[in-house]
Amino acid sequence: MNIILLGPPGAGKGTQAKRMIDEYGIPQISTGDMLRAALKEGTPLGLEAKKFMDKGELVPDSVVIGLVKERILKDDCAKGYMLDGFPRNVSQAEALDKTLEALGQKIDHVVCVEVPNEELVTRLTGRRTCRNCGAGYHISFDPPKKENVCDKCGGELYQRDDDNVATVTSRLKVYEDQTKPLIDYYEKQAKLRRINGVGSMGEIFARVKAVLG
Ligand code: AP5
Ligand code: MG
Ligand code: ZN
Repeated sequence: MNIILLGPPGAGKGTQAKRMIDEYGIPQISTGDMLRAALKEGTPLGLEAKKFMDKGELVPDSVVIGLVKERILKDDCAKGYMLDGFPRNVSQAEALDKTLEALGQKIDHVVCVEVPNEELVTRLTGRRTCRNCGAGYHISFDPPKKENVCDKCGGELYQRDDDNVATVTSRLKVYEDQTKPLIDYYEKQAKLRRINGVGSMGEIFARVKAVLG
């Protein structure tokens, strides 16, 4: 099963993807995580991407399309995958359709997680992530047992550079202008599965499972 997780910054795409890995036995492919990993390694691609990410803008299409094309050919994608944060505009979606057609694959479901903007800002500015294992937390909604320490591995928690109010505001605008048109794009392909993203993480996971069957 090939799935796209669509939704604004902070909607809970990453949070739900982590639960879906075990439930469906397919990997999460997050272009944001891949770009942050490239930056951590100090590669030219990562350093270039950071300029865009810090402003809340999209990294050039050629970069992310290349990353995804390479990633979906890996062995662990044989039974399917979840794309988290890709595609993010119509030209990425068209490139994906073309690539999948050539591979004899297709997207089965586009899960669109909907959350109002005020809630998104609260979620993003309070998000913390483990530097070691990548586990996600929220200072109020999902706090670690010990402040700034990961429950799972004891690693240090950090705040993403783009989770400040100014960058979040620009990310939300980019979502409105460039990513939202994908709702229509996938509705036309009869692949869109809308989900109310407000509620507990467990409630939302139950909604995801209900639409995926
Ligand atoms: P990316 O990393 O994809 O960020 P994003 O889309 O902005 O989404 P987030 O990761 O911020 O949110 P999420 O939906 O995963 O929320 P999460 O589950 O963590 O992209 C970052 C940047 O990289 C982009 O701005 C761009 O520059 C670049 N980029 C990436 N992909 C690209 C592409 N395809 N093309 C071009 N550029 C690209 O949850 C958020 C918080 O809320 C957490 O603290 C969590 O604990 C909490 N939370 C989750 N669910 C709930 C709930 N139900 N109730 C309360 N709190 C909750
Ligand atoms: Mg994410
Ligand atoms: Zn950890």
